[in-house]
Amino acid sequence: MSKILIKNGFVVLLDRIEQKDILIENEKIKMIDDDIVDSDATILNAKGKYVLPGAIDVHTHFHMAFGGTYSSDDYESGSLGALRGGVTTYLDYAILKEEKSLKELIDSKLSLAKTSYVDYGFHIALTRSDDKTLEELDHIRDYGVASLKCFMVYKKENMMISDDQLKKILLVAKKNNLLVNVHAEDVDMIDDNIDRFVKEGTLDNYHHYLSRPEEAEYRGVLKALSIAKEADAPLYIVHNACEDGINAIRQAKQNGQKVFAETCPQYLNFTCDVYKREDAQNYVCSPAIKGQTSQDALWKAIIDHTVDTVATDHCPFLLEEKLWGKNDFRKTPNGCDGIENLYPYMLDKANQGIITFVDAARLCSSNPAKIFQIPHKGEIKVGNDADLVIYNPNVPSVFHIADSLSNCEYSIWEGYQYSGTIQTVILRGTILMDYGRISGEIGYGKFIKRG
Ligand code: URP
Ligand code: ZN
Ligand code: ZN
Repeated sequence: MSKILIKNGFVVLLDRIEQKDILIENEKIKMIDDDIVDSDATILNAKGKYVLPGAIDVHTHFHMAFGGTYSSDDYESGSLGALRGGVTTYLDYAILKEEKSLKELIDSKLSLAKTSYVDYGFHIALTRSDDKTLEELDHIRDYGVASLKCFMVYKKENMMISDDQLKKILLVAKKNNLLVNVHAEDVDMIDDNIDRFVKEGTLDNYHHYLSRPEEAEYRGVLKALSIAKEADAPLYIVHNACEDGINAIRQAKQNGQKVFAETCPQYLNFTCDVYKREDAQNYVCSPAIKGQTSQDALWKAIIDHTVDTVATDHCPFLLEEKLWGKNDFRKTPNGCDGIENLYPYMLDKANQGIITFVDAARLCSSNPAKIFQIPHKGEIKVGNDADLVIYNPNVPSVFHIADSLSNCEYSIWEGYQYSGTIQTVILRGTILMDYGRISGEIGYGKFIKRG
C-alpha cells in the first residue's frame, strides 16, 4: 500500500491549528509530528496551505423521486461533485415510498450507491409509522443506519409525518439510540397560503417564499421542539433558514434540551430577493430562502455555536424541469445544488476571517461525524481514516458549472469567487483530486456503517 507524507501544512485540529507533517499509510493517518522522514512515501508539500479533515455532507438527495421527476444527480455524478468540493463522505436520504421494508429500502440504495466515488451512509426518511415499520426500527442499526428523518410537510406528496406519528417515532428512536431529523415547517399555514394565492392568481416564484414565510418555519420549529421535549428525545432540525426558528433552538439548548441545528450555504448567502430574479425558479427550495435578518441571525448562530452543522440539502433538477414552475411555483421541483460548494464556501469565509478554519472543520466535518456516529472520520488524528483536504488560501478560484462533472445544468453558485482553492482531496489514503485533476475511481466509495 502506498504511503503519503504531507509536509509542513497548517493542520486543522479540533481546537487549534499546528504546523505539522502527516504520514498516511494503509488508508489511515499513521503519524502527526514535526519533521517526519519516510523515504518510501510520496511527498506532498503543504507549506503555506491548510490541511483539513474531508467534509462530511450529512444532507443529500441523490436520485430522489420528487416533484414529478428525479433529482438530477445520482450517486456517480453527485459524488464526483462531492469530491471536487472536498466532500469525502455524505449521508443521503433513503426515502420510504412504496410498501418496501426498511431493509429492502436500504438494500436498493446500497445497490445504487455502488458507483459512488466517495464514502457514504444513509438516513431513513419515514413516510409511514405502521407497527411493522416501527418494529423494524429495532434492527436498522444492524443495517448500518443510525438516523431517521420525518418531514412535517409534503402532505400532497404522501411524505408527511403527522405530529402524533412524530411523537411515536421519537419514542421508538430513543429506545434504539437513533437520531430523528425533522424538516420543520407548518404545513397548514403553507397550504392555506397556497390556496389563497391560487384564488388570487399570484403564482410566480416569489410567492413560493410568501407561501412559506418566516412564520411558517418558526411555527414548525416550535412544534418540533415541543414534541421532542414531550418525548424526551434528542432531535436534529435540518436546513434551518429563519431567525425566530434558530433563536428558538438556541433557547431550547439553553434550557437543556438535546437539539442539534443544521443550516445550508444557500441560506447563509442569498436572501428571498432571489425569487424576484428572472431565473427565480432555480432557487426554489424548501424551506424558502428568507430575508436579510434571517441570514444575519444564521451567521450569529454559527458564531455562537447554536448551529451545529452546515450541510447542503443537495437536490438539483434539470433546467427544463425547474421551468415547469416558471409561472406557477407549485410546479417547480423543490431543491438546489450545493455539494461542490459547501467546503469552498465555508473555507472562503474562514479565509476572510468571518469564521475560523477550526470552525469550518467543526461545522462541516467533526460535528457531522459525532452527531451521526460516523466512525473514524471527521478529525485529523492518528488511527482515523486519512480523509484530508489541502486548501491553498492564496490562490483565488471561480466556480463555473461548466467545469463540473455533476449532472447539474446550472448552479445557484455560478460565478462565485472564492478567495482560496481546494487543491488536493484524499480519501482513505488515496488522492482523488489534485490541482483539479480527478484521479478517483468509480465505486471507490465505501458504505460506512454507523454506530
Ligand atoms: O427543497 C428541498 N429542500 N428539497 C429536498 C427535500 C427536502 O425538503 O429536504
Ligand atoms: Zn427538507
Ligand atoms: Zn433535504
